[in-house]
Amino acid sequence: MAKKKIQITETILRDAHQSLLATRMPLSDMVPILKKLDEVGFYSLECWGGATFDSCIRFLDEDPWERLRTLRENCPNTRLQMLFRGQNMLGYRHYADDVLEYFVQRSVANGIDVIRIFDALNDIKNLQTAIKAAKAAKKENNRVEAQVAISYTTGPVFTTQYYVDYAKRIEEAGADSICIKDMAALLTPYYTEELVSAIKKAVKIPVQLHTHATSGLASMCLLKAIESGCDRIDTAMSPLSNGTSHAPTESMVAALQGTDYDTGLDLVKLSEIREYFMTLREKYIKSGLLDQKMLAPDAKALIYQVPGGMLSNLLKQLKDAGKEDKLTEVLEEVPKVRKDAGYPPLVTPTSQIVGTQAVFNVILGERYKMCNDQFKDLVAGKYGTTPVPIDPEFRKKIIGNAKPVTCRPADLLEPELDKLRAEIPEWIEQEEDVLTYAQFPKVAPGFFKKRRDKKIGINPSADLKNKVHPV
Ligand code: CO
Repeated sequence: MAKKKIQITETILRDAHQSLLATRMPLSDMVPILKKLDEVGFYSLECWGGATFDSCIRFLDEDPWERLRTLRENCPNTRLQMLFRGQNMLGYRHYADDVLEYFVQRSVANGIDVIRIFDALNDIKNLQTAIKAAKAAKKENNRVEAQVAISYTTGPVFTTQYYVDYAKRIEEAGADSICIKDMAALLTPYYTEELVSAIKKAVKIPVQLHTHATSGLASMCLLKAIESGCDRIDTAMSPLSNGTSHAPTESMVAALQGTDYDTGLDLVKLSEIREYFMTLREKYIKSGLLDQKMLAPDAKALIYQVPGGMLSNLLKQLKDAGKEDKLTEVLEEVPKVRKDAGYPPLVTPTSQIVGTQAVFNVILGERYKMCNDQFKDLVAGKYGTTPVPIDPEFRKKIIGNAKPVTCRPADLLEPELDKLRAEIPEWIEQEEDVLTYAQFPKVAPGFFKKRRDKKIGINPSADLKNKVHPV
């Protein structure tokens, strides 16, 4: 018997394909294997969150809420987990508390159990409402867990003590568990040992490790974490593991089998699931969706601190602009922009903000010749307090004499749910649609229109047809 059963969060339905194939796995590729995934005994299936939601409506013409309900229906036994950007929800700006509370409530009502909440700046002020909302949802579904993730990064202030202090504040704020979220694969095995030991000593709630295989160190870090008291780990089924994704699930299960940390998961069952995902992997490689470059370990991640999702997005952005050859220059510019912006950890939305600014700085041949509004907002404190104060001279250069925000940014926002609802009455087919619109106001109307057209096409009613397509 295992002395301490290590629990596994399987990421193949979310982060694995976000990291390797720009989040393009459609629901139709998931459905055939869901029953089997549900039988394995994973602690949770990570399956929903910012990029999956965005990709659903932007590229896949899928209703993300429908996806969630289908996952729930097919996986009744396993916790479903989502990634949630605190006050940014799944979008790229701060939302008023009424929208956030409603989003958490609807997510749970549609099937989410574990809400992994993080803030890109590790500003606890931005997590408070989300934790409270998850706690409130617990009354409806006692499987609900408010997990707060620490955005792990390196830089002048990011000492072990910094993380210990943050972990204590997370526990005090009411979180049910803590995740160390190493989205950029910056952890090394021996530092993981130090960090996990220190956090485990400081808090009583379970600790989970989320790290990426980008630099080739993931499984070593996970093992050191487990030996240091870590309770749960994130892994990905092998066909979409490694590279910018995670350590392979089956390998970790095998590594722990028969030890004090045995996961209790069945390798034979896992190998059946593997077979299915191997066929998808081959399909994705053939279609060009899975770029083989993403699969090779690259310790450069330790220099540039770029998370997997961001790396594949940068590569795509540059490819689209015909500037693929500028990738190295952009990767060198990223840490410089990050330093100027007060050392934000690179995770959505700061990864996009810093990444886009780095692309501008390189492509335009002059630094900060052009800045988008999000970069200005970051520098103005509208995303929260940056880990390191921003140089006043630099701030002035970017936002002029505007006064920076120092309070909880959401305190400056009026309730906005009713206003958002009033903007799209013609598109609302379900109450969750207002939340889709809130998060992606530019993309959602186009998606809603396609959704309606599709319905009409599938189930044509003469009247409706005549109204929409007058002949
Ligand atoms: Co990740």
